[in-house]
Amino acid sequence: MSLNLLIELAGGITNILRILAPEGRVTVAVRDLQQVKPLPTSIVSESVLGEWQLSMPISDEISEHDLAEVGIHIAKQQRQQAKAYLPPTESVYRPQWHISPPQGLLNDPNGFVYHQGEYYLFYQWHPFACQHKDKYWVLLKSQDLINWRWHSIALTPSDWFDSHGVFSGHAVSDGDDLWLFYTGNTRLGHDRQRQTMQCIAKANSEGGFTKLGPVIRTLPDGVTEHIRDPKVVYKQGRWQMLLGAQTQQLAGCLAVYHSDNLHDWQFDGLYGQELAPYGYMWECPDRFELDGQTLVVFGPQGIRSSNPHHTIEHHNRIFTVADNQQGQLQFLQGWELDSGFDFYAPQTALTPDGRRVLCGWMGLPDEVDHPSCVDGWIHQLTALRELRWINGRVIQSPIRELTQLRGEKRSLHLTEQGIDIGGKSYELQLTLPWGSELHLMKNRHQQVVLSLDEQSHTLRLDRSQTEIRQGDTIRELNLTTEQVKLQILVDHSSIEIFINQGEQVMSSRVFTAPDATQIALFGAEVEADYFPLQATLKPFAA
Ligand code: FRU
Repeated sequence: MSLNLLIELAGGITNILRILAPEGRVTVAVRDLQQVKPLPTSIVSESVLGEWQLSMPISDEISEHDLAEVGIHIAKQQRQQAKAYLPPTESVYRPQWHISPPQGLLNDPNGFVYHQGEYYLFYQWHPFACQHKDKYWVLLKSQDLINWRWHSIALTPSDWFDSHGVFSGHAVSDGDDLWLFYTGNTRLGHDRQRQTMQCIAKANSEGGFTKLGPVIRTLPDGVTEHIRDPKVVYKQGRWQMLLGAQTQQLAGCLAVYHSDNLHDWQFDGLYGQELAPYGYMWECPDRFELDGQTLVVFGPQGIRSSNPHHTIEHHNRIFTVADNQQGQLQFLQGWELDSGFDFYAPQTALTPDGRRVLCGWMGLPDEVDHPSCVDGWIHQLTALRELRWINGRVIQSPIRELTQLRGEKRSLHLTEQGIDIGGKSYELQLTLPWGSELHLMKNRHQQVVLSLDEQSHTLRLDRSQTEIRQGDTIRELNLTTEQVKLQILVDHSSIEIFINQGEQVMSSRVFTAPDATQIALFGAEVEADYFPLQATLKPFAA
């Protein structure tokens, strides 16, 4: 039977919600069962997890081109449907200059790259609710890394190979061409069997992206369907793809492929076993050089923190790595890249002037209940940071372009009396002695507390006195410096703390009431530099 006939029986193309191609079959999910015509016995018609699906054996006369045609129609409908979720909702928690979704759920940054005079930054988006469901890619563009403009919904989960999510990935700028690499996520049958393929799309002349389909369709030996988030780099005359993966023994690892042309990929191997046991899954790898040192960033899931306040499974790590003589990746020394509550799936881009700039997701995989959900949106991206390699350490600082957002500088004399600065989007620079305690985003009942315990030389970030609904409330860092130098970025519902000139960073969501605009300092009196921050473009506006 032809695909056209199946579509006609299913009530026409506008009644098709999804297309799937499980082994040897083709399946369509329908919007409205009433529109389905009487079916021949060769078509199985059943409810699969609340969705009505019609399925038949796939015949030779149905090509992938035919399946792609259906995908194009579904994509049109998905974009149309998502339009209603583009007007940004009013929200007291809405960051002013960080990237947040107009509505729905944002997660990982994707495809962060400089291409032909513009920066491209995509993010994972579920438009319709604060839930992790079928993901889209949204594109924002900027000429200066600081003023971001909503561009488009770049990719939708419309095809047989990505019907349950255009998952995370990176971009490659190769001359005039801009390629997107991503993981197509599909779920098949009653047991939602996961099917994972690595896919590509290419920027087209209409300002959109044309999907070219899967370039890696099968799993390498020894891994589960948890293999995703391609990062593609050019290395020693050929392309290398890194994927986060899980072995069949349920250990996290990196899977590496290589290619001469970006389309045909050969599997090299699984790496990272020398760190084992190191979690049950690694997500979102990135690989780059800082001053000649090669580094790999990834999200190991299921490793334990030695700090009892840290109960979350999703971590972030950066490792120095080297390729041995056989070209195998060796993991050397690793650190936490960010020690706050909310930091995951970061990606980097190289600027034309040679800076390595990082953007992360200021959120975590399991958290879907924050106060902003009342306003129909959740999560945001971090501020952009420059990474440098200094004396064997990774140093992070807010990109220098961020100073463009600064209003007039004020000097604040901070004491326990407190100062009401009348706003919640600012930068604060100060040096604190051990034994002091800084209260930020504060009103009579709420505050975020940064305390420096003199005895243990521990910096403690405590968000228990806020509107937090989900997640840990205490993060701690041991520091050895005599005083603690801080550069703090606050943006309505987030705080990013750069410690001792970027030796450490803590990024966190912090929800307090709109009148929580005071700053107070206990145990010391200190002069602080204060700058209000304001974006000229609204990075959440569609
Ligand atoms: C990380 C992650 C990725 C995946 C994406 C799906 O947050 O789980 O591994 O590609 O989110 O949205």
